[in-house]
Amino acid sequence: MRQASSTQAIPATGQTPRHVAIIMDGNGRWATRRKLPRTAGHVRGVQAVRRTVEACGQRGVEYLTLFAFSSENWRRPAQEVSLLMRLFVRTLEKEVDKLIAQGVRLRIVGNLGAFDARLRQLIAEAEQRTAKEITLTLTIAANYGGRWDILQAIQALLRAQPELAQHPEALDEAALSPWLAMHYAPEPDLFIRTGGEQRISNFLIWQLAYTELYFTDCYWPDFNADELDRAFAWYRDRERRFGRTSEQLHTPR
Ligand code: IPE
Ligand code: IPE
Ligand code: MG
Repeated sequence: MRQASSTQAIPATGQTPRHVAIIMDGNGRWATRRKLPRTAGHVRGVQAVRRTVEACGQRGVEYLTLFAFSSENWRRPAQEVSLLMRLFVRTLEKEVDKLIAQGVRLRIVGNLGAFDARLRQLIAEAEQRTAKEITLTLTIAANYGGRWDILQAIQALLRAQPELAQHPEALDEAALSPWLAMHYAPEPDLFIRTGGEQRISNFLIWQLAYTELYFTDCYWPDFNADELDRAFAWYRDRERRFGRTSEQLHTPR
């Protein structure tokens, strides 16, 4: 399905965000504060993922996108990277049945070619097994980078339509967006970053064009339904103008 673009048309908005995108940050600091190894924070972070999926489902969110591993996270110590990969495998193995029971469709976006064959196989199976009965689409961004996404989309588009290189003026949003990794979802309404940093860290840089950005000091392993409700309450107070004036929003046409 083609999804509306916030720069091409004014999207419909409601009280509850349709699409929530989260940078799950602060696992390491959560653990360090408790004198635990950083990896203990990642393990605890999985529980927060479970809580958040459930809470979003209950609140009628249609798309939840979680940043699990960035294209720059390979720069971390090898031991931490390998724990994160094992945790990803273990979580996929354990959670898929629960996701099916909850009506959650799982999608993984990112440069998956960098993962080993076993993990790629698990990802394909999990996506296939959860592909029906959807109330919520859960996207995990793994080895994802916003710049990677834009570049791979351009490459894929040019591969499919090589004649476009002779007519660069035909390259518009409608041509490019079907090739972006999250082509199946509307743009995020609400972005949440836990852990206190106020940056995008190469997450969905194209798709966040008109997203409301919410930052909280809460470390990801502590995130729960109450924290989510605080973010939703903040979201409800935003005036989403998409370039228009406030007066235009309040004057009936
Ligand atoms: C987020 O927590 C998880 C990943 C990036 C995989 P961090 O590991 O970045 O935690 P902090 O930011 O160091 O506390
Ligand atoms: C962003 O967190 C990536 C994920 C949560 C997966 P980082 O902890 O890697 O971001 P920076 O390095 O602080 O910007
Ligand atoms: Mg971090």
